[in-house]
Amino acid sequence: MSESVLLERQDNGVAVVTINRPKALNAINPDVLNGLDEVLTTLGADPGLRCVVVTGAGGKAFVAGADISVMAEFTPVQAEALAGRGQGVFNRIATLPVPVIAAVGGFALGGGCELAMACDIILAGPNASFGQPEVKLGVIPGFGGTQRLVRRVGVTAALDLCLTARMVNADEAVTMGLASRKVDGDVLEAAVALAGKVSRLGPVALRLCKRAIHENADSDLTSAQAAERSLFGLCFATSDQTEGMAAFVEKRRATFTGE
Ligand code: CAA
Repeated sequence: MSESVLLERQDNGVAVVTINRPKALNAINPDVLNGLDEVLTTLGADPGLRCVVVTGAGGKAFVAGADISVMAEFTPVQAEALAGRGQGVFNRIATLPVPVIAAVGGFALGGGCELAMACDIILAGPNASFGQPEVKLGVIPGFGGTQRLVRRVGVTAALDLCLTARMVNADEAVTMGLASRKVDGDVLEAAVALAGKVSRLGPVALRLCKRAIHENADSDLTSAQAAERSLFGLCFATSDQTEGMAAFVEKRRATFTGE
């Protein structure tokens, strides 16, 4: 397995994925993309997986973007292929069946902001800064940034970030809806604690809820609600639903099996 991406699996079903190139502020090179791909294959085949945390090593950066030195001499064809590869790997994160939490400490720039946005929940530490500074380099975001950003924060804020290359801190990122929450202490600790709480919720319901939101976010309300109804109905075919509602009625904590 690649040294550039580390995977730690806890007994409670929480996995922590760490981008591990701290000397390059965890910039995403082909080795990182390959490492993420491998890790995602492992996670996708893990039946006990409940929640994933994605973070960057070193404390100074979550990820400072795609590796500029790798692509500096690229031809248009190579650049398009790189963007396709990055988009593909990030789409695999977005479509992991379980909730994925980004623990953002330090810089989340360019491909780093795009990586965070491929996650379901973004926790921003006190020193987090987000941005899409690609226009400074004479390029545009290429790992899904223009599209995920506009869907998260709307056209006004997406244009403001992408066309000015400015960075926003944790508070502003939360205000604009880019980050989910700011945490005051250690962001990785907070993310792992949150993942632990999520891991105790109904596993099938979490998967179906994530699907209901992601698969229908771009649909019209009528068809999106039809999809929601079907998935709601499907919950009632699970023992998690029986247990969750029985536990509520009996005033005890539910023990879910994920079936
Ligand atoms: N690619 C390659 N190396 C990077 C990098 C990147 N994106 N970001 C940082 N590094 C490297 C630096 O080159 C430096 O390496 P050396 O020590 O070997 O010189 C090391 O990480 C530390 O960085 P700095 O010395 O620059 O640290 P700093 O504290 O002075 O500045 C920073 C921090 C503001 C984040 C600055 O490093 C920076 O601006 N990085 C680039 C950010 C960026 O433009 N990201 C977008 C990349 S393009 C992209 O991502 C396209 C896409 O959508 C796919």
